[in-house]
Amino acid sequence: MNSVIEKDLLRNTAASSILDTQYFIGTSTQYLLATGEYTRRIHLDSAASCLAFKPAYNAAGAYLQHYSNTHSEAHFSAKISTRLFRWSQEQVLKFVSADADKFVTLYSGNGATGAINRASRLLSQIYPERPGVLISIMEHHSNDLPHRVSHDHYYHIPCVGSGSEAGQVCLAALEELLAKHRGKIRYIAVTGASNVTGIINPIHDIAELAHSYGTLVIVDASQLIAHRQVKMSDDGSAARSIDALCFSGHKIYSPGSPGVLVIRKDLIANLAPTEFGGGMVDSVFTSDFIVQEQLPEREEAGTPNIYGAVFLGCTLYSIRRAGFQLVAQHETQLLDILLTKLPKISGVKVYGSLGVPRTGTVSFNLAGVDHELLARILNDYFNIAVRNQCFCAHPYVRELILKDLWDLDPDLSMEEIEAKKGMVRVSLALYNTREDIELLLNALTKVAANPSAYTRNYQIQTDGSYKNMRFMAESHFDIESILNDCF
Ligand SMILES: Cc1ncc(COP(=O)(O)O)c(C=O)c1O
Repeated sequence: MNSVIEKDLLRNTAASSILDTQYFIGTSTQYLLATGEYTRRIHLDSAASCLAFKPAYNAAGAYLQHYSNTHSEAHFSAKISTRLFRWSQEQVLKFVSADADKFVTLYSGNGATGAINRASRLLSQIYPERPGVLISIMEHHSNDLPHRVSHDHYYHIPCVGSGSEAGQVCLAALEELLAKHRGKIRYIAVTGASNVTGIINPIHDIAELAHSYGTLVIVDASQLIAHRQVKMSDDGSAARSIDALCFSGHKIYSPGSPGVLVIRKDLIANLAPTEFGGGMVDSVFTSDFIVQEQLPEREEAGTPNIYGAVFLGCTLYSIRRAGFQLVAQHETQLLDILLTKLPKISGVKVYGSLGVPRTGTVSFNLAGVDHELLARILNDYFNIAVRNQCFCAHPYVRELILKDLWDLDPDLSMEEIEAKKGMVRVSLALYNTREDIELLLNALTKVAANPSAYTRNYQIQTDGSYKNMRFMAESHFDIESILNDCF
């Protein structure tokens, strides 16, 4: 059966076709704009969620003909489901070059957030003599707060440089912290790439440094997994190997799929499970119960998201086959155009050092146009979907923006800064084209040249949001009538 799914995928995705926009669902979706035109939506919000990869969606849909619950060999469908679920976990391990004898894939119901919470709950049980954690300042809240609440002490690692020029996590500062708290740090939590600036961290150098101090490393690969080849170890050595890695399936073209934790089996083999219920026990008595010994079973309470896992497995299988060179090359080409032209637009300020490796995620502001207003203008007049605000990374955004806000007005209070902080973020994926980038740059050039032609149409609301007084952005999707048509 597994090879049937693989054959289907092989038919559907020749190596070069992964870059074909028709392989992604929603690349030709149209909306009516404030200009009265219907145009194609340009999705530049992939750091939040990627559009779905159609061949994987189709293959996972075909699997629904065999859908059944897992954890049984009693009937044909249960066997297929059980095997495909395990196949998807193998695909994850292969995708990140993790040795199946040493690592295990655990799925969570709520994306990387669930996976990271599980990792921190599990690892907080080991090394009791090491009650502290180090967390980089670049983290999404989901790779920061779970570690804070599960540990007695936490310390933030700064970046190289400061303010809007900040770069990667500072290895010298990291080593200083490791030396200062020698023997007291359980693990380091660090992102593979920032969800704000796209800056890529040297995760294997961090692992090597951490291990030299007897400390573990958890990498949040949510913003890296779809953009660069991620390997647990870059040279195959244990010294440079990440100990636990997390990401969300929806950030790699598989909406509705689980969050993923790849973690060293030896670290968690004897720990108390993080969740209890059916599926993870051998025997239950009224007075006691016996937990399964093997992994991943002892960490798999309840019915898993089988369909989502199969979808994710199919996507990972296809991308691995297409090869990461193609993926990284495509994104780098688009990013080069964006990073060359965007800072040249009058009033645009791009955040984060431009001299370090980055994924296709770029955050910026346009002087005189609030980030919220600019995001709405790009949507209403240009059909460009971007994200704004602080992207669940408040400490990092504050660090990037604070100095600029004070330069503009040294009397700004911290409260006013809190109200003003934010940026506009564009983020690229496999389905974006050169045309998408040109359309974005043209739109920003137009707004920068004559902001009031757009801003005058908006009124600020009491909650700080902006309303277009001449146009109601159409965001209605009548799922009930579509459903009725299906009967
Ligand atoms: C770097 C990073 N980590 C973690 C998360 C949390 O992902 P999820 O909301 O899927 O749990 C995100 C989401 O944007 C992210 O960008």
